[in-house]
Amino acid sequence: MTQLQILLTTITLMLMAAITTAAEFDAASYHDARCMKCHGTEVYTRDPRRVNSFSALEGQVARCDANLGTKLFPEDLALLVDHLNTNFYKFNN
Ligand code: HEC
Repeated sequence: MTQLQILLTTITLMLMAAITTAAEFDAASYHDARCMKCHGTEVYTRDPRRVNSFSALEGQVARCDANLGTKLFPEDLALLVDHLNTNFYKFNN
């Protein structure tokens, strides 16, 4: 292989990896599989709930995710926050 071919192959593989990662994260499935171990969705709608703003929601989701030790990418965390906001919190961020 020439250097150019190697370079093109590397770029193609990186692009494929990026696309696969983006397509793989499904916030709803991740949430139901991983986030429901310690609490159910009732904590999102209870009164009074702890989280009262979009930024507090981002912080809480990051803290809870850190407990799982899965270290989500920031884009995936953002999708998870959006999932909770759309279905439960409904803040206008
Ligand atoms: C290791 C246990 C644990 C796991 C796993 C966990 N949480 Fe939590 N979570 C908690 C605890 C404890 C609280 C606080 C509950 C309380 O105050 O009664 C909480 C509270 C929350 C709240 C705030 C609820 C409110 O009152 O507004 C949100 C939002 C939340 N978790 C999201 C998540 C998400 C998203 C995940 C998955 C990434 C997750 N949690 C996984 C333990 C966990």
